[in-house]
Amino acid sequence: MSPVDRAAERFRRLLDHTPDGVWSAPGRVNLIGEHTDYNDGLVLPFALPHRVAVAAAARADGQLTMITVGDDGVPQRARPAAVSGLEPGSVTGWAAFPSGVAWALREAGVAEGGADLVISGDVPAGAGLSSSHALQCAVALALLGLAGVAPDEDSSPTLAEVARWVQRSENDFVGAPTGLLDQTASLCCVAAHALFLDVRSGAREQVPFDAAAAGLEVLVIDTRTKHSLADSAYGERRRGCERAAALLGVPALRDVPAAGLAETLAALPEDLRPLVRHVVTENERVLTVVTALRAGALADIGPHLTASHTSLRDDYRVSCRELDVAVDAAVGAGALGARMTGGGFGGSAIALVPVDRSDAVREAVSTAYDRADLGAPRMFTAVPSAGARRDA
Ligand code: GLA
Repeated sequence: MSPVDRAAERFRRLLDHTPDGVWSAPGRVNLIGEHTDYNDGLVLPFALPHRVAVAAAARADGQLTMITVGDDGVPQRARPAAVSGLEPGSVTGWAAFPSGVAWALREAGVAEGGADLVISGDVPAGAGLSSSHALQCAVALALLGLAGVAPDEDSSPTLAEVARWVQRSENDFVGAPTGLLDQTASLCCVAAHALFLDVRSGAREQVPFDAAAAGLEVLVIDTRTKHSLADSAYGERRRGCERAAALLGVPALRDVPAAGLAETLAALPEDLRPLVRHVVTENERVLTVVTALRAGALADIGPHLTASHTSLRDDYRVSCRELDVAVDAAVGAGALGARMTGGGFGGSAIALVPVDRSDAVREAVSTAYDRADLGAPRMFTAVPSAGARRDA
């Protein structure tokens, strides 16, 4: 049963009435442009077919009730909360994600009513594929929908505004200092395309990315690990970038030109140089990849994906053994390129693989994991899919 059907069916069964609607939003992989979003830079994600669905009905008493139905089918009920009483710190655990969205929408003055929410999804959790943003984006559309608001491209609220509210929820309610990549991907991606987003200007371009038509696949390799350092290291990297931008006298590392990079770096303390080198070269790689995709030269992007991984591993230092083993094994077995995707320190890698090498690459990754004494990874082909929407 799809997450949408399951959320609707469970809503009826557990709450004994009919939802007013069902909304869903996908997880994502980022093709390239990593750790650039909070530097006002460039990213190129696409949406996964995996989604989180929220069946929802308005409540007249201002309460927010939340039930999530896991893979095992067992419902978990969060403690109900009054929307008017939500404040950062007032809700912890998984319920902080939907509650934070309700708080952000209330703060923005766009949706303040109570709601019953029943949530079901198939985005692998903890895999760096943005399951939490899929949840938050689906909840945002659901709560807006219950308030009679349907965001779109042209009229307020736009999807870009919704992305900012979800970011506010994540930054100020949940307490994770993340950028705009994941929410924008979940809200704005379309099938068979990657989304080229300029985070500073908000400009978006849907770039055709039909890997299957080019005889290729994007293989996702979920390492099934998340190292405890992930959260603290993310904040440290971010602060390092902000310090470097301040020392260079620019608003963000986005403003550091690639030309003359060596001289720019020489003016910085040694510990900040590799961070700046990563961000500047990664933005350049995004532009190169976008140019290749616009020309339909999908196979040409492989080496840039691998160069991105090397930069994240050696300069930005957010990779880990599990990701490096996956990338090396995939490239060794005929992938055109491979890289970690998302924040790093575990989570998933992606590999661009000619379909006739698919079995060989999967086998090589499994064997390499065995040899390295790592637990088996989960692998699947990622097909660029639709963004968030109302389903019923
Ligand atoms: C996480 C964050 C994003 C982005 C990536 C790294 O996924 O949520 O905002 O910073 O890491 O590119």
